[in-house]
Amino acid sequence: MTKKMFMLIILIGFLGYCVKDQEAQPKKDDLKDYRQFYHIKTLILEEGHPLYKDFGGIHHIYANEKAYQAYKNKTKFPEGALIVFDLMEVVKKDNAVAEGKRKVLAYMKKTNKNKDTGNWEFQAFAEGDLSKPVVKDAVNQCFACHKSVEKNDYVFSEWRN
Ligand code: HEC
Repeated sequence: MTKKMFMLIILIGFLGYCVKDQEAQPKKDDLKDYRQFYHIKTLILEEGHPLYKDFGGIHHIYANEKAYQAYKNKTKFPEGALIVFDLMEVVKKDNAVAEGKRKVLAYMKKTNKNKDTGNWEFQAFAEGDLSKPVVKDAVNQCFACHKSVEKNDYVFSEWRN
């Protein structure tokens, strides 16, 4: 075997190993993976609540690993921390309160470039459809309210055991 061929075989083997390694560790850091994140809390906003029009329904809050560590240790959220707000309609039937259709899927992601919004990127998608973003002006649509919790790095929810 020539030296060139030998090197080629080693290279193919190495590439194969890389591909396999990626498959073995699915990336759980993207928005699309949020159902594999940590569940932070759930809340139901009922009719009569001042935020009912926009946020009425049942919502769940999820955090990726970086955000979870910050929630738990009550530290500042590091770059890459991702928090997801999943809002569904409420269906009341047979004395049960259940989830209906998804109304909105929103997120906050810590960056180092969104200076006007506390270094958080804010976005929300109608019906959870990633092709339907609804935030055009994060300062007024989202941050205007979230800035009231500056002392918690602009995050309302807190970790509970
Ligand atoms: C009028 C106030 C208000 C506005 C406007 C608002 N939020 Fe929130 N948001 C809240 C409150 C209150 C919570 C906490 C809910 C809970 O504790 O269950 C929250 C929670 C969140 C969370 C989970 C992290 C946290 O802070 O607890 C995300 C993500 C989020 N909002 C994204 C958005 C996005 C994106 C927008 C803009 C489209 C937005 N919010 C606009 C009040 C607001």
